[in-house]
Parts: sequence; structure tokens; C-alpha cells
Amino acid sequence: MNKIQPKTLFIGKITKYLSTCHSTNDIAAEMIQKTQFSQEEVIEGTVIVTDNQTAGRGQRGNSWEAQAGENLTFSLILKPSFLQASEQFRLNVAISLGVYDFLSKYLDEGLKVKWSNDLYYDNQKLGGILIENTLTGYQIGYSVVGIGLNINQKNFGISTANSLFNLNRPPEPYQLEKLLENLLEAIEKNYLALKNGQYQQLKAKYLSVLFRFQEWHWYRQNEKEFMGQIIGIDETGKLALEVNDKINYYDFKEIQFVI
Ligand code: BTN
Repeated sequence: MNKIQPKTLFIGKITKYLSTCHSTNDIAAEMIQKTQFSQEEVIEGTVIVTDNQTAGRGQRGNSWEAQAGENLTFSLILKPSFLQASEQFRLNVAISLGVYDFLSKYLDEGLKVKWSNDLYYDNQKLGGILIENTLTGYQIGYSVVGIGLNINQKNFGISTANSLFNLNRPPEPYQLEKLLENLLEAIEKNYLALKNGQYQQLKAKYLSVLFRFQEWHWYRQNEKEFMGQIIGIDETGKLALEVNDKINYYDFKEIQFVI
């Protein structure tokens, strides 16, 4: 994993490989913090990658578990200073689409992005993204984009998780280095589209690949379950759900999908 050569302009040109570490997001945050009171900066596009993450973190304070050496587990440092703090969700859209584009080379239309940025195939999770931003005034200074993707792992403790290998059953396990290179290329393409002002196009594509978009399903809020239909995403990234002839907007922590 320490010798990747993605065909990119800046993402993954500098790579820090650790055979084992606690959390690549935490390593990235430490690197950023070290530069805080100095003139130095962390170079945009730096990737921290590990084979074995011992204290991986997920969204909603969850942990992220992945078998050593079987999966993609890395963090990417970006500096999206072109985004206002209120536009943070735009980065989630671009990164999700980068991961989606990469996986779509291997999977059919069962592949979806589950709001806000999980990768699903049918009703099973293939990977997740944890984006942690540092704000500089009203702008985003640094963004740590942590990505965990289940690639060659065969066994999962839960039925709602799966891997690319289990879905495709290739004769040999996937080559993680090659996959990481292609994934970084797809992420850079979408990130540059965002930087070039193409958010509306990205958002339209995000909705077109969104899990359960315009379908009626069950959701849960405060232990109560109800039917709803996703009809969109607002400017701040809230989920717009039609419930009982009304449109309700939910923050990430306010609602759960019943799967
Ligand atoms: C989620 O689905 O809840 C997000 C999971 C994100 C996991 C990745 S693995 C690499 C990076 N380091 C972490 O500690 N978390 C992210």
C-alpha cells in the first residue's frame, strides 16, 4: 500500500502508509494540528492509509471495524476553502459520488448512495465515509475525508454489511493498491467538478443514485416508526421526507432508516 501511483493531479501524490494505526482520521487531524502554530501547511491531497486500523471511527460516534489487510481504510486531506461552512454538505455529495463512480465499475444498479454518505448494494453496506472539517472563519480550512470500503473481507458479524468480493466472487482477491489508485482518481474527478462550480449537476446525479429515493419505506425517529418517501435534500444536506402529506426535514442525527 505504500507505493501507489494514481493518475491524478494532486490526490494521493503524497501518501503516508502505516501498517497499523488507531484511526487514519486521527492521524490526519494530528498532522493538521501540528502545523497550526507554524508557517507550514499539510499539502492538499495527502493520503494516510493503513492495513490495520485498531480504533476506526464511524458516523454517529460508532466504531468502524474492518479485518486487517482485506479492505480499503484511509483518510484524505483536502482544503476546500472555496466552500462556505454552510456548504459543507456539498463535499459529502462530491466524495460520495467519487466512491460511487469507482464502485459502479464493479457493480450494477443495485449500488446506491445512502444519505448522507454510505455506499450500499441492495440492503447491505459496502462502505462509509467520515468527513471532519476544520473551519477557518466562515470557510472550510481543512477537511479530513475518511473512507472505509469492504473489499476482500468474507465474513461479517452483521447481515447488513457485505464486501465487493462476496458480491462478485472473482477468482482472486482484489488488488488493494490498484483499487485505491482508481478510487482516488474517481474522487479527484468529482472534487474538481465541485471546485469548478458544478454542484447542481453533482446534486442531480446524487439524487439519481440515492438509496430509496422517491420510494415509500419505514423510518424511525425517537423510537417511533413511520412511513415516508425521500423527495430531496435541502441546501444544508437535510433529508426532505414526505410523511402524511407533509414535507419534513431531518438532520443526520434525527432520523434512522429501518432496514
Ligand atoms: C461510517 O460509515 O460510519 C463511516 C465510516 C468511516 C470509516 C473510515 S476508515 C478510515 C477513516 N478512519 C476512521 O477512523 N474512520 C474512517
